[in-house]
Amino acid sequence: MGIKGVGNRGGWGRQRPSEKHGGGSIIPPPRSAKKKRRLISSTKVNIYRDRLYCVDKVFVEGSVHFLVADEAGVRGQETSWERLESYKRIYSDRRIKSTRRILEGEPGYGKSTLTLQLAYDWCNGVQDSPFGDVEILILLRLRQLGGVKSIYRAINRFLASGSRLSDKDIEDVLKNTSSVEILLDGYDEYPDQDKITGNDVRSIIMREMFPNHDVTLTTRYLPKKFPKLTKRVKLTGFDRRRAR
Ligand SMILES: Nc1ncnc2c1ncn2[C@@H]1O[C@H](COP(=O)(O)OP(=O)(O)OP(=O)(O)O)[C@@H](O)[C@H]1O
Ligand SMILES: [Mg+2]
Repeated sequence: MGIKGVGNRGGWGRQRPSEKHGGGSIIPPPRSAKKKRRLISSTKVNIYRDRLYCVDKVFVEGSVHFLVADEAGVRGQETSWERLESYKRIYSDRRIKSTRRILEGEPGYGKSTLTLQLAYDWCNGVQDSPFGDVEILILLRLRQLGGVKSIYRAINRFLASGSRLSDKDIEDVLKNTSSVEILLDGYDEYPDQDKITGNDVRSIIMREMFPNHDVTLTTRYLPKKFPKLTKRVKLTGFDRRRAR
């Protein structure tokens, strides 16, 4: 998760022990990004046994398709999928402009890895990062949020250790920032996915909460309910042409 303009009391250079995918390590960004006080939880990927690599060192672009959806295509009755030239177009192609996106893909097709690459691009100010203008990027692994009703609590929990921000501080920052990108990874792993009320994740997916913030949900399968304006994008695998 990253926040520009919010203090990081943990310090950029401090490392916490890593864990597989989305664990708690804080990696120091390059100098230019450091000035902007951006904080990321981890952009490392577990590739070979216990060895961790920065996602950018291993990332290979795969195929991405989007659902060309009229109303009937939104839920269950897929009509046609069209290929996007790059994952970077997910957020710029006008055909899939929306504040809510679902990024689907079978197990191991790279949904979580893509969220890390997007975070990496943003954090390092990569020139064609889809999130170039984004002020706050939040990346949460839903499997870690079982029983956590408040999204502000969830965010606070995964900020740098030693954060002295209150949940209310997080709320104020998010409510007063216009350009916020929220990546919710792994709906299929979310322990509370069937709970209908009293849960911010569900309210965010339904666009009752953060209606103007941009939200992407990654998942192996669709949630039972999501708003009609949601655009659907799918990771469809890798081919030789795209491998580096
Ligand atoms: N774009 C990629 N470039 C290089 N390696 C990748 C890429 N995508 C996935 N991998 C490799 O495949 C592994 C599994 O990918 P990942 O965890 O992102 O899949 P997933 O779609 O999130 O799966 P799940 O549905 O189980 O959550 C990664 O740890 C990485 O080793
Ligand atoms: Mg995943």
